[in-house]
This record gives sequence, C-alpha cells and structure tokens, in this order.
Amino acid sequence: MPSGLILGIESSCDETAAAVVERGARTLSSVVASQIATHARYGGVVPELASREHLRAIVPVVRTALAQAGCTLADLDAIAVTSGPGLAGALLVGITYAKALAFARNLPLIAVNHLEGHIHAVLLHERETGDLSPQTEPATALPVLALVVSGGHTHLYRAKGAHGTWSYSLVGRTLDDAAGEAYDKVAKLLGLGYPGGPWIDALAPFGNPRAVPFAFAHVKTKLHLAGKAPRTKAAKTAPIANLDPRFLFSFSGIKTAVLRHVELHDLRSEARARVPAMLALSGPPQTQEAALALCPQPTLDLIASFQHAVIGDLKKKTFAAAESLAIRRILVTGGVASNRELRARFTAEAAQAGLEVAYPTLELSTDNAAMIAAAAWPRYAAGEFAPPGLTANPSLALGR
Ligand code: KG4
Ligand code: ZN
Repeated sequence: MPSGLILGIESSCDETAAAVVERGARTLSSVVASQIATHARYGGVVPELASREHLRAIVPVVRTALAQAGCTLADLDAIAVTSGPGLAGALLVGITYAKALAFARNLPLIAVNHLEGHIHAVLLHERETGDLSPQTEPATALPVLALVVSGGHTHLYRAKGAHGTWSYSLVGRTLDDAAGEAYDKVAKLLGLGYPGGPWIDALAPFGNPRAVPFAFAHVKTKLHLAGKAPRTKAAKTAPIANLDPRFLFSFSGIKTAVLRHVELHDLRSEARARVPAMLALSGPPQTQEAALALCPQPTLDLIASFQHAVIGDLKKKTFAAAESLAIRRILVTGGVASNRELRARFTAEAAQAGLEVAYPTLELSTDNAAMIAAAAWPRYAAGEFAPPGLTANPSLALGR
C-alpha cells in the first residue's frame, strides 16, 4: 500500500463525496453521490433535504471510496474534510463523520476550504497528466490567477505555491449571485432542467448569441461601501471594500433582464408548457432537431445570448486581472468551468494573449472529494491539523 494516503470528505452543498488521493497527486478513488434528483423538483438546493440526504449517503460513500481504492482505514495517513463555505447543516454531516473517524483511528484531521479544493482540482489533474511534476512544480512558485466559478461562487484569487505551501489573496468576486446561480435561475425561468448549467451549455450552440444584446454595466463599488451590498449568502464570504471594481462581478442584473425579455416576448407560457416534456428527457438534447423540439428558435436565441454575455463578462474581467497583476497562468475551476463555450473562449483568448490556461477534468470541475484530499496534502506535509473542536463555517473566506 502506498504511503501519503488521505481520505477526503466533502458535503458542503448537494453532493456527498469521498475520495482517496495519494500525496495530492494520484486519485485512487473518487465517489460522488449526487442529490440532483432530490432537489430537481424545487429548482434549487433545499438545505434541510440536503442535510438529510448527506446523513443517508455519508457511510456508504466513504465505504465505497475505501473499497475502490483497495484500502482500509488502517492504510490512511490522514482524513481531510471541507469545513466551509457551504450550507451549515450539510457541512456538519461531513465534519462530524470525519471527526469521529479520525478520533476512532487516531488519525490527524485536516480542515479544507471548499474554494481551495476547487483550485487544487486543477493542480491534481495536472499532476495526474504529468503536466506538473516534482521537477516542474517549483515553477508554480510564480503566482497563478484562479477563477472559481460555480453555483455558490464567482471569485478571482491570486494564488502562490512556494515549497508546497499555498497562499491566496482575493482579487475579485461577485457582489450578488454567482454565475452558476444565474445559469440555474435562468434555466428554471425557461422551464429547463436542474441544475441549469448543463442544459444551457447543450442548447446554446443552436441559438444566435447576438440576438439579444445583454450588457454588463461597470460594477460600482460605492454601493457596497455604503453598506447596501453584498446582500446574498455567497457575497458574505469575503470582504470587498478593498477590491478593484474592475474585477467585481454582478449576475443578478442579467437574470432580471432575461425575465423581462421572457415577459416582453411572451415566452412564459411556452416555458411552463415545456416542463412535462423536460421531465421525460434523460438529459439535455444534443442535436438541432432535438433542441428545436424542446425550445422554439427565439428561446434558443435567448439562451445563446445569455451564455455569450455571461462568459464574455467572466473572460473580460479575468484577463484584465491577469494583465493588471502581470500573471501568466490562469486556472479556471468550479461547476461552470465544465462549460464548453467557456473553455473554448478562455483558451482562444489565452492563446492570443500568450498566457497559459488550465482546467480540471469535467468530473473534477463540479463538487468532489478528490480535490479536498489533494488540497489537504500540503497541509498534512506542513503538520497543519484541525483543532479537536472543528466546526462548520458556512461563510469561511479563503486567504486575505
Ligand atoms: O462546483 P459545483 O458543483 O457546486 C458549487 O460549489 O456550487 O457547481 C455547480 C454549478 C451549478 O450552478 C451548475 O448549473 C453549474 O455549476 N454548471 C454549469 C455546467 N455544469 C455545471 N454551468 C455552465 N455550464 C455547464 N456545463
Ligand atoms: Zn463547489
């Protein structure tokens, strides 16, 4: 049995996940139990249901992860768990179980920030493909710009790994909704499935991205300095007063603009009528015929325009931040990083600007526990263990 094995446990939102990763570089197993079916009918995550589902899934998910890795608790060197940010009740299920296992087996416990986990998903993937190795890793001493873009977050960090230890500073963030949240809300409004990202991703190529000219206004910092924002849970996780307004995001406006467009063009009843047809589908349509059977052309155009605008805004601000901070390497991670148009446009822009851009695999983009075990490895090596009184921190911030 190899040494340096960490069992990662993740339960911050609606996936119960466990994974065994060797030295932050080789995934022996990664098991994700999704609660999508539970939350789909509500069009969003219901916190009480999430906690209940985590309670049901945590023991079998951890057992399966150990079995698939071909190891037992006795082979582990440490246990890592997401301590925040996320839903309090959901986080507590993973933390309580991880603490009990660590106590029973006398193993060190490592607390991992979920956002740091998303960043390490890219590094884990690069180590597994050989793009990062112990020989090339010192190169990561140069700072990277990480865009964490998911259902709960749209955050830009400057991250620096020196001698295996990573430090982070916040560069930009959303003032209200996360980008993935906008995808989910727009999909719900249009009578599409939950989560909305994969549906919009699949349907957008069949619409005209220039049909509806959505615009992102320059975000004004005065609003939050006056104490009027941030308003949402997602916005509470980090301070914003000192951030450059050029790197602040806001996605609640485009959601309202889509709603107005739907009302103005009478797309509402058509969206409602789509719901039963949607439920009969096993997944998003892949061909133009199937897309048109589900949505008329004006709706496909709206979807394409929405996605084009959101990704344009993410791209513009991320590359502006990289330029301003003189950073040559960008990591894009989180659920929205699985989007095909996002990857294509970020990759093209990076090539043009002479920068590097990297993403995790699709499995590592959305929530998983391999990224938690990978992020824990440098902390294990540095002896940074969680206190016995570790508890959930729903608004845990990353870095300074
Ligand atoms: O990282 P994740 O699994 O959970 C959070 O930490 O939030 O991200 C989930 C989010 C959802 O909002 C979902 O709609 C979005 O990621 N998402 C996508 C795609 N796949 C998932 N958004 C756009 N395109 C996709 N292909
Ligand atoms: Zn996440």
